Amino acid sequence: MSIEFTFSRPDVFTTVRTVSSVESIDVIPDFLIVDSEVKKIYKNRLPSCDFEVILTGGETSKTPETLEKLWLNMSQADLRRDSRVVIIGGGSVCDVGAFAVSTWKRGIQLTLVPTTLLCMVDASLGGKTAVNIAGKKNQAGTVYPASEIVICSEFLQSLPLSEMKNGLAEALKTAVIGDRQIINYLKEKEYNKAVSACLVVKGRIVEADLEENGERRLLNLGHTIGHCIEAISNMDISHGAAVAMGIPMAAKIGGNTDFAAELTEVAHELGLETAIPKEITLQEIHKHLESDKKSTSAGRIWIIPQGWENCVQLLLDRTTEKELLKKAWQ
Ligand code: GLY
Repeated sequence: MSIEFTFSRPDVFTTVRTVSSVESIDVIPDFLIVDSEVKKIYKNRLPSCDFEVILTGGETSKTPETLEKLWLNMSQADLRRDSRVVIIGGGSVCDVGAFAVSTWKRGIQLTLVPTTLLCMVDASLGGKTAVNIAGKKNQAGTVYPASEIVICSEFLQSLPLSEMKNGLAEALKTAVIGDRQIINYLKEKEYNKAVSACLVVKGRIVEADLEENGERRLLNLGHTIGHCIEAISNMDISHGAAVAMGIPMAAKIGGNTDFAAELTEVAHELGLETAIPKEITLQEIHKHLESDKKSTSAGRIWIIPQGWENCVQLLLDRTTEKELLKKAWQ
């Protein structure tokens, strides 16, 4: 597969291509950033480079300290405007690594090689980079699409089940937004087809709205409640698990109870749990909703699924939001 995306900023484009094995990742990095687990498992099957930084995967690496370490190493490697950085890892390693690349000499060449399903179907495309500040997620970041994404589904063979579920939840989200067929690919474990279909849906959206002023907000389906659940559980509930709970809840908030039931069934078929743990109260949800980055004084925009490939954006003021959440929670 090879797909090209050109974004609303004409100078920015991304090419996505698929390779069949780790050995076939045909990239020539001037600087390599790689996830420590991936390095441990795939060792010298990975592309090599004289300048290599190994990062631990997960949210704990998404810090200003990691950024500084990357910048110092980039300086030692004497990276110029036309140098290429290749990042091989999951969402967190790509988030912080791409942030460093986007700011080095105000942006140099970037190739992403996602190694988790979540990163393949969602995080790698669309240019969001981020670090966490004072324990709060993604507080600082840039929008800097990679010029190249290389998909190698062989990495999924070594992915722990919990990580796989994170990706399945984002793929479910993408199916609801734009292509129901993705569910069949996932059920059949046809991951190359599922990843391509997800990237086509996401690509269509981010091409039109890279800066998230309109349509890109649809990609937040399940995330408004999901982020609250993640935070309330002190990240014990993973991002994907929380999003899987948030998707049917969003349908309920919109009053679409039949579709919520259908989404619950599909999520269960994919091995995803949708029941929000009893310890998480509605009161806590309301408290955490206030730290949602997308809140304004007028309220919050919720993404409401009304049916397959049919999601709408709904601005709810705080009073209406409270009423609808109370009803949906029962
Ligand atoms: N992960 C949602 C987005 O890229 O906008």
